[in-house]
Amino acid sequence: MTKIIKTVSEWQQLKRSDKIKNKKIGFVPTMGALHEGHLSLIRRSNVENGISVVSIFVNPTQFNDPSDLEKYPRTFESDVKLLRDLNVDYLFYPDYSEIYADHFKYKIIESDLSQILCGKFRPGHFEGVLTVVMKLLNIIRPDKAYFGEKDYQQYLLIDEMCKAFFLNVAIILCPIVREADGLALSSRNMLLSSNEKILAQRFPQLLKSEKSCEIIKNELEKLSFKVDYIEEIGNRRFGAVHIGKVRLIDNVEI
Ligand code: PAJ
Repeated sequence: MTKIIKTVSEWQQLKRSDKIKNKKIGFVPTMGALHEGHLSLIRRSNVENGISVVSIFVNPTQFNDPSDLEKYPRTFESDVKLLRDLNVDYLFYPDYSEIYADHFKYKIIESDLSQILCGKFRPGHFEGVLTVVMKLLNIIRPDKAYFGEKDYQQYLLIDEMCKAFFLNVAIILCPIVREADGLALSSRNMLLSSNEKILAQRFPQLLKSEKSCEIIKNELEKLSFKVDYIEEIGNRRFGAVHIGKVRLIDNVEI
């Protein structure tokens, strides 16, 4: 039975109890609207740890666009059911005031990788992400925390932050889960109409093609995508596009 925990003090008390004290803790932070991508992280945590904790917190500080925050899908009841089906031990489901008693006066700033790719198009986004992940890791104090390759830039920043601040946690990268048509699963996919969903397949198809970034960008624009960027860094090609009001990101190894 998944126990729902709303406050930091409740978790801290539980963590000292005999039930948890000597067990390895795996942690999967999420913003809810759970799908198979999230579930793959949770399954891995279940296998590798004695206790799994999942958090659901739609973190306002990482939304640079207020309408994106407002539209963000919230499916709490079905999320809880999925967590119970997977036998997750604890769901951490805090209120805004529990996490941001300081009103975001204190934040984690990274000055390099956070400024390119998504950081360039979503000012402040990674400050919000890093700050909330720092808070969540300090609250839960897991042995391992799981992140998806879908948000590869986010993963790199979190991994580097944990090293920079000597956090005692292993950051585990998990592969991208895709639909049969190649589209990376995302909570935002729920916001696509059926026609937009068909169009969306073209994004991963083109991203993994042999074509140059410039040509991929042009072809996507011809298909009516609005393209933020298609860019190669190291052995990875990254992309971010808009279909109507929905922003999608993806990346592939090249
Ligand atoms: P969210 O978008 O809910 O994603 C939670 C985790 O699931 C992230 O590590 C993300 O990379 C992973 N994930 C999402 N879609 C995936 C897919 N198709 N395959 C594999 N993994 C996938 O990322 C966030 O929330 C937030 O920024 C958060 C880290 C929780 C901080 O607020």
